[in-house]
Amino acid sequence: MGQDEGKRLAAEAALEYVEEDTIVGVGTGSTVDRFIDALAAKRMKLQGAVSSSEASTQRLRSHGIDVVDLNSAGRLSLYVDGADESNRFLQLIKGGGGALTREKIVASASDRFVCIADESKLVDVLGAFPLPVEVIPMARSTVARELVRLGGRPELRQGFTTDNGNVILDVHGLSITEPLKLEQTLNNIPGVVTNGLFALRPADVLLLGSASGVRRVDPE
Ligand code: A5P
Repeated sequence: MGQDEGKRLAAEAALEYVEEDTIVGVGTGSTVDRFIDALAAKRMKLQGAVSSSEASTQRLRSHGIDVVDLNSAGRLSLYVDGADESNRFLQLIKGGGGALTREKIVASASDRFVCIADESKLVDVLGAFPLPVEVIPMARSTVARELVRLGGRPELRQGFTTDNGNVILDVHGLSITEPLKLEQTLNNIPGVVTNGLFALRPADVLLLGSASGVRRVDPE
């Protein structure tokens, strides 16, 4: 059984957290795609979903699930999303799919963040996965220089524009021992829209899928 099956199992396990007649916050990525498919297959009666990307919006609509604007949804009880890495405090790196900014917005608007992933995503120290940073295009070079000063090796994600019209710098070579501090430091660089560290708003529950089933991890 590979990572694909782990993702599917974690995605299906997240259905337990979804309550009928609510608006669910929905993340982005291959694991979330399976969650959306599972929601539809179960024919859950929802008021709708708040989506974190154009890709998830399309998939939700293709299943006949209403997509609601966050401004009219108010506070959400549940957000379900994947991750590129998680440490044992459920602080995450996200943004491999480039949807980090909207994901962070919806996560911050939600009471509970259930993260779904295959078991390979749990790590001791964040940073082996290059940290995505969304940047306003005119600030690309100034932000890149600042990231080098902070010890990283930023690489422009080629041929990619975010749903917000910005670019992504993927920062290699960081060993992130202080995620809270780094998240704030990066967000203070002029031109940075946001970065893929989810430490100020970590996940509340991590569902890890693997060959032996789904393991629930609570933050240490
Ligand atoms: C999207 O921008 C990301 O934050 C995803 O949540 C993350 O990359 C996980 O993606 P997969 O579920 O495809 O591994």
